[in-house]
This record gives sequence, C-alpha cells and structure tokens, in this order.
Amino acid sequence: MPSGYFDFIRDFLKEHSGLVVTPDKMYLLETRLNPLARKLGYSSIDEMIGVLQNNPNDPIGIDVSEAMNTHESLFFRDNAPFELFKTTLLPELLKRRADKRKFRVWCAACSSGQEPYSLAMVLDELSGKLGGWRPEIVATDISKSVLQRAANGLYSQFEVQRGLPVQLLVKYFTQKDENWRLNDNIRNMITFREFNLLDDPKVLGTFDIIMCRNVLIYFDIATKSRVLGSISRVLADDGVLFLGSAESTMGLTEEFWPVKAGRGVYKHTNGPASIAEP
Ligand SMILES: C[S@@+](CC[C@H](N)C(=O)[O-])C[C@H]1O[C@@H](n2cnc3c(N)ncnc32)[C@H](O)[C@@H]1O
Repeated sequence: MPSGYFDFIRDFLKEHSGLVVTPDKMYLLETRLNPLARKLGYSSIDEMIGVLQNNPNDPIGIDVSEAMNTHESLFFRDNAPFELFKTTLLPELLKRRADKRKFRVWCAACSSGQEPYSLAMVLDELSGKLGGWRPEIVATDISKSVLQRAANGLYSQFEVQRGLPVQLLVKYFTQKDENWRLNDNIRNMITFREFNLLDDPKVLGTFDIIMCRNVLIYFDIATKSRVLGSISRVLADDGVLFLGSAESTMGLTEEFWPVKAGRGVYKHTNGPASIAEP
C-alpha cells in the first residue's frame, strides 16, 4: 500500500472514531481492508481508499471504520463489575433513588450487546426487589452493524459459551437452529442507540452508572482525556464509572478517582461518596 494511503487512512480513522493506527499495525490495514475491498468489488485496497480519498463522505468510510474497529465482547466480561453491580451498586441505588424509583445505566461502546444484556439479566434475577422501579439501560456504539446484531440478540454457540452461566442460558435464551436468541423480556430492557464517543453525550441525559470498557485502549492520550471529560459531565454526582481491566484514568484526567471497591471502578474526584461506597 502506498504510504500516502497509510497517512490518509490513519488520519481518517482518528478523526472519524478516535482509533489510532500506528505504523507497526500496518499489517492490520492489509488483513482487514483486503476482504472489504474484495467484498465491495474493488480490485485492491488502493483503489478503494482512492475513492474515499476523493470523497471522505463516501459511505465506504463507514465500512472502513467498522472493519478496522475491534468488536470483541463477551457476556459477564471480567465478572467483577457485574458482581459489584449486583451486591453493592444496586442495593445502594434502591436506597438513594427511592424517591424517584428510577436509575439509568449507560453502556458506551456496547458492541454486539453482551455487556448491557449481562446487566439486564442481573436486573431480571433481582426483579423481586425492583417492583415499581424503572431501571433504564442505554447501550450505544459507533457501529451500526454491531448495534443491529445487538438488537437482534442472536448469539452463536461459541458466544454463549463464553462467560454466560448455563442456568442463565437456559432461563433467558431460546435455541434457534445453531444459535441462541435472547428472550424478548431481556431484549426489551435495553435501548440501543448509535453514538460516537467523540461527540457530546449530553444528548443522552445523565447516568448513575457508566460502563465504558475496552474502547479507550484504542484511542490516543488526548482523545482518552477528552472522552473521559465528556463522560464526567453526564455521570451523577455519586455515580460510578467502570473502565476495562486494562484501562485507567491515570495521567488522563483529574475528574475521576479510583474506588477501592474494585479495579477499573471510578467516582468523581470532588463528588460525595459514590454508590460503590455505601
Ligand atoms: C472491544 S469492543 C468493547 C465492547 C464491550 N464494551 C466490552 O468490553 O466487551 C469496542 C467497541 O467500541 C466501539 N467504538 C470504537 N470507537 C468508538 C467511538 N468513537 N464511539 C463509540 N464506540 C466506539 C467499537 O465499534 C466496538 O464495538
């Protein structure tokens, strides 16, 4: 691939989604964009990128961005955040939000939906304590295609074998040929929306819990700081932010402070004791 194209595609991806592609990841461009170029009927990546270079608004840009982003996810990923949600955050929310009987959770960068659906299953398991409550889970991603998959709630045998306890599989899924479909009561608990983390999340409202896991790792320092700054503005004063296990706010922002309750769990630095610190 001519290096001019590398520079163009690197800048395009950074501007479009925040994704940073360093020269040592050049091979990823080849391995991910070659199949896309073939699928779209181009003779080479060069030809496809040439079209985008002539018109950066060409819909090819969305396909390129989707092909380059990593959409890996699994049910109950890392488990600890979901345990903390069940054992500490939820009981605390039931006390602190008793007047409104409402709380809101945002799964930013939800990919194919395993993260919000894991939370929805936890909530359903505890539904006996939630009579009259209106918990809301908003799940967003930049990628239309993963959001479509998420909304369908259809998972392969391989996907349901990763992290999902078998009793939850039996209780909440229905087998469809080789695949498993989440039952409507769980699917209906989530609102899926397209949202780019580079944009201002105020349009989504404010949240008591935000999960922004395993996406900041793909951004550079300036973009991570900017996204964390926006997130802090839509997190309730006593709210909690979860990052992925390989992510941290250190050196990126003064807005968040780690909570002892768990790794990757944060509160507002100058906020009151959070719902993770009852
Ligand atoms: C590795 S997945 C993480 C999924 C889930 N949070 C988890 O931890 O299992 C990363 C997701 O981030 C999304 N993403 C990448 N850049 C984004 C952006 N600028 N705004 C919103 N989502 C983005 C990708 O489309 C992808 O689905």
